[in-house]
Amino acid sequence: MNIKNLYLKNFRNYAEETFSFDGGLNVLYGKNAQGKTNCAEAVFYLCTGTSPRAKKEKQLIRTGEDAALIRAEAEGRFGSVRIEADIYENRREIRVNGMKIGKNADLLGNIDGVFFSPSELRLVQDGPDERRRFMNVSVSQMSKSYYTALVRYNKILEQRNALLKNRDAELVLETLPVWDAQLSRYAAEIVLKRQEFIADLAPIAAERHAFLTDGAETLEVIAEKKYAGGREEIERKLAEEFAAGYERDLRLGFTACGPHRDDLKILIGGEEARVYGSQGQARTAALALKLAELEIFKARAGEYPVLILDDVMSELDLPRRRKLLACIGGVQTILTCTHAEKVLFGKTVNKIRISGGAIRR
Ligand SMILES: Nc1ncnc2c1ncn2[C@@H]1O[C@H](COP(=O)(O)OP(=O)(O)O)[C@@H](O)[C@H]1O
Ligand SMILES: [Mg+2]
Repeated sequence: MNIKNLYLKNFRNYAEETFSFDGGLNVLYGKNAQGKTNCAEAVFYLCTGTSPRAKKEKQLIRTGEDAALIRAEAEGRFGSVRIEADIYENRREIRVNGMKIGKNADLLGNIDGVFFSPSELRLVQDGPDERRRFMNVSVSQMSKSYYTALVRYNKILEQRNALLKNRDAELVLETLPVWDAQLSRYAAEIVLKRQEFIADLAPIAAERHAFLTDGAETLEVIAEKKYAGGREEIERKLAEEFAAGYERDLRLGFTACGPHRDDLKILIGGEEARVYGSQGQARTAALALKLAELEIFKARAGEYPVLILDDVMSELDLPRRRKLLACIGGVQTILTCTHAEKVLFGKTVNKIRISGGAIRR
């Protein structure tokens, strides 16, 4: 998948700008706070319908304006696609080839994207939320049914949790099985797809990690909880788990088991990276995971996603920079940095200088 061009209007600190991208490495460079990450963010927004950093759409709209527009044209193995997002304070409209889409699921899979920035260290160092987010963002792009299951699961979960706060225990116990039949079905889809994803990801991440560390360290990625069997068996097991937790959930006032509580174990040299790992180890592990993610996209979608590397080069030592570049040879990459010459080692690339929310030509 190649993004040919990107048009921004009243997006963040951009009044109006058009970017042309190459199929290889595109380097956005310039001083701090000029708009490099903003551009990277816009690209990812068209991939997933979410920003990697903004919580509210309003933040994306240029101060003093009512609406932002992001538009990109991309070309992949299924032909070309044009995606536009009109972003307003409290709503948005996304169009794919001019057709308004009704739900975010219909955006996913048009332009696949992998985003990596220094804050992705959270993936290794923070709590389980971050690792679930990693799986959700990635697998959702690969599978509409996963994304849809996730949205529905979360909705039912919310209702289930509201019910658990009801004082009428008898009513709660009567109603729970109704919710749980649906909950288990969506949970099974989530668990199944995550398991497949991790099974594919783990060996490649280990291999990339060995390459990045010259074989000095091993990386293991393991699902904390594993369910054997096919979809029906998993669904039955999950239903049993939900049912077995009624008393506990009632006491706690929320649902204490299910895929919204699952975690991944990330081990470096056999030790849990979250607890024992250094900053540098976490960085390399996170990078290995992201590089592996590229390969899963390639295997499943038949082509690489767009890779967005925001500010990661400055955090890597020279050998790792070279290795990273070696791993992304065939991948369209949008890379931001402050000093282009320090990351590129004389490679010919599409260099774009950003200053004050505009390209300096
Ligand atoms: N909604 C917005 N309207 C106007 N300016 C914004 C908005 N959001 C962020 N900015 C500005 O964008 C700049 C940061 O851009 P960013 O892309 O993060 O910088 P960098 O080039 O360092 O990656 C800051 O000057 C910030 O004030
Ligand atoms: Mg930045």
